[in-house]
Amino acid sequence: MKKITFAVCGVGNRGTRYALMQERYPEDMEIVALADNRRERIDAVNKKLGLPEEALFDSADALFSVPKLADIVTITTQDAQHREHALKAMELGYDLLLEKPISNRIEEVTEIQKTAERLGRQVFICHVLRYTVFYKEIKRILDSGILGRVMTIEAAEHVGYYHQAHSYVRGNWHREEDSSCMILAKCCHDMDIFLWLTGKKCLRVSSFGSLDYFTRENAPEGSAERCLDCKVENCPYNAPRFYLEHIPGWPSNVLEPEPTPENILENLKHSDYGRCVWKMDNDVVDHQIVNLQLEDHVTVSFTMTGFNEIQTRKIRVMCTEGEIWGDFEANDLHWQRYHEERHDIDLNALTDDFDGHGGGDAGLMHDVVRYYRGDDFDSSSITTIARSAESHYVAFAAEASRLKDGELVRMDEFLNEQGE
Ligand SMILES: NC(=O)c1ccc[n+]([C@@H]2O[C@H](COP(=O)([O-])OP(=O)(O)OC[C@H]3O[C@@H](n4cnc5c(N)ncnc54)[C@H](O)[C@@H]3O)[C@@H](O)[C@H]2O)c1
Repeated sequence: MKKITFAVCGVGNRGTRYALMQERYPEDMEIVALADNRRERIDAVNKKLGLPEEALFDSADALFSVPKLADIVTITTQDAQHREHALKAMELGYDLLLEKPISNRIEEVTEIQKTAERLGRQVFICHVLRYTVFYKEIKRILDSGILGRVMTIEAAEHVGYYHQAHSYVRGNWHREEDSSCMILAKCCHDMDIFLWLTGKKCLRVSSFGSLDYFTRENAPEGSAERCLDCKVENCPYNAPRFYLEHIPGWPSNVLEPEPTPENILENLKHSDYGRCVWKMDNDVVDHQIVNLQLEDHVTVSFTMTGFNEIQTRKIRVMCTEGEIWGDFEANDLHWQRYHEERHDIDLNALTDDFDGHGGGDAGLMHDVVRYYRGDDFDSSSITTIARSAESHYVAFAAEASRLKDGELVRMDEFLNEQGE
């Protein structure tokens, strides 16, 4: 069977994950090049891959200055870099495994999509949720018609107080200008799921939300600029406690490729991850709601909030003849036809691999590789750019509404105004 070859552009958290999928799918894929401007990130991965020095590049530019080395390049650099790296790679002849968001600018999403069409490149977006058994089961049951027609979706993303603090207050996505607005960064996955599950287009959007809590006014009395200097007791956002409790693995491995108590404590002395959550320069929201009207009067209400103990996604899809509901992180899924018995779906009987976005990281890689090779399998979740871009447009429209105090945004007018 042909192995699909990959170059990894950006060997950070996501790039490392995809690169190490080679250990899981050695018959299907092979990593042949790594590019990152942080040598320690490359070294941590290459200990396991053992690539020769000439396969290691100290930047995306260096990787793209040589002829094409692989079938697919992963674009796993930061949001604001995707356009440049995706366009360069496609010009060289690469197909792409492109992390979401496609880009943090709406016009660049279209530019990347049009370039892919013009050059005939395949671009797969890392909307990992579609590759999980949880969402695949929901889709399968809805498509079977047993619950009738979808009328309403009620969904929530509980980001979790610690994940909110790590990524959206202290971390890579804390400022929109440098990364993305929250609803795009965190929830383009959810927008994608709603469109995919229903098979409908989005017609109208409204949204409210704000950054309210992680601001200087809310800092506890006597709190310091950095946690290591702080005397406030029992602070849930105490960085040393939080990161030391999570060695190894995420999120301590975002701070250091090979975290140890010593290097984490050193990191917290100088990085943003050691700063007080109320004294950052963050500007992305900490809670937001979005309402969508889809074709055929299907309605969706969605809540994103960082104020929760447990990080999860919840969904309830209400149909004319029954409903399906579940909790993603709890692997809890049920459906029922009205006035009939309830069915509890045993997701553990379908897979024992819930690692990385409920198994979505591995599912994405496995499906993309098989699809690319032309294998015969159910590829109905494949996230080609043509199918994934709409979720981004909906997220941009939600943000436009939020910024105008919840004003209604009609998708057709919004896209016309954007020239999309
Ligand atoms: N699909 C998902 O669920 C999901 C989850 C988290 C993050 N993401 C997205 O994945 C992307 C990467 O996120 P991450 O958490 O891995 O970030 P990261 O910061 O850990 O990784 C990015 C890497 O790119 C490297 N880099 C920066 N400039 C470079 C250049 N010019 N050339 C080569 N390498 C360069 C950095 O050194 C870093 O190692 C982001 O767009 C993010 O939004 C997606």
